[in-house]
Amino acid sequence: MKVLANDGISETGVSELEAAGFEVNTTRVAQEQLINFINEQGITVLLVRSATQVGKDVIDNCPTLKLIGRGGVGMDNIQVAYAREKGLHVINTPAASSESVAELVFAHLLGGVRFLYDANRNMPLEGDSKFKQLKKSYAKGSELRGKTLGIIGFGRIGRATAKIALGLGMKVIYFDPYIEKGNVQVDFFDGQSVSFNFESMGKSELLQQADFITVHVPAQKEYIIGSKEFDSMKDGVGIVNAARGGVIDEVALLEYIEKGKVSFAGLDVFESEPKPEIQILMHPKISLTPHIGAATGEAQDRIGSELATQIISLLK
Ligand SMILES: NC(=O)c1ccc[n+]([C@@H]2O[C@H](COP(=O)([O-])OP(=O)(O)OC[C@H]3O[C@@H](n4cnc5c(N)ncnc54)[C@H](O)[C@@H]3O)[C@@H](O)[C@H]2O)c1
Repeated sequence: MKVLANDGISETGVSELEAAGFEVNTTRVAQEQLINFINEQGITVLLVRSATQVGKDVIDNCPTLKLIGRGGVGMDNIQVAYAREKGLHVINTPAASSESVAELVFAHLLGGVRFLYDANRNMPLEGDSKFKQLKKSYAKGSELRGKTLGIIGFGRIGRATAKIALGLGMKVIYFDPYIEKGNVQVDFFDGQSVSFNFESMGKSELLQQADFITVHVPAQKEYIIGSKEFDSMKDGVGIVNAARGGVIDEVALLEYIEKGKVSFAGLDVFESEPKPEIQILMHPKISLTPHIGAATGEAQDRIGSELATQIISLLK
């Protein structure tokens, strides 16, 4: 059986599939040639990330296809219900990237409390001529240890974020209307592990108590954090969004950073992705990454491996 991994797949995924007798093609086929290619090659499995669109046209016109797989979480680029109606398997890998996203959240938080987002912009320009002034301007850092992290959305990534926070000695609180109680087990390198039980608190209580806030909810119709929410936060709060653009109101975010209410923000996702607003990109108090939450070798290996395992069990 032939697999087309149109947006790429890790070596681990390729070798596991090949070992099970699949032929894996990692050629990137342009969207408009996809249907022809699948038919000419007799492709059974189409694997995508977020770039390739798998709409009704592909589903209707590719009779050899039996399975569509998304390496990652969101399946906005696939007509999932329609494909399943037509008898195709549709799979994804929801758990594979949680730890990578959680680590990126802490890259933004640890960078935020020591002004790395700004120091990295100014050191190349003035590090040799104004070293002492720069040293002074970044002198009032703070520690995460002992502070409270408020997690909005206590699913896979929310909980992975909690584990790192606990390891750093932070207090963890969360708000999730669908998860009343949540357990988090922190595993250490030597086999020890410590289990923590949490209970969801009200959103407004969380906003009032948290020193730092990170959001881990699915795409929403309305902002989870807008002016009203910023108003109830502690002065000097730090905020991270590595969930989805549109979860935080970026206009309100800029306003509350200007007012001094928010001391910094870390953004991996943007309302107007893939063309984030220039005011966001140029802001000296925003730490920026271009939607790379899941972009680690480890996460990509787990994604490849998880896809391979599911494909083998469904089709072999
Ligand atoms: N930055 C990246 O590269 C990257 C990578 C992977 C996933 N993500 C995003 O991270 C987000 C979370 O992923 P996950 O795997 O943890 O999902 P998940 O489904 O495991 O968890 C989401 C949680 O949010 C909760 N929730 C839903 N609506 C809520 C609301 N209004 N208020 C509070 N909580 C709410 C749900 O009950 C659930 O527990 C998703 O938006 C996903 O697209 C980003």
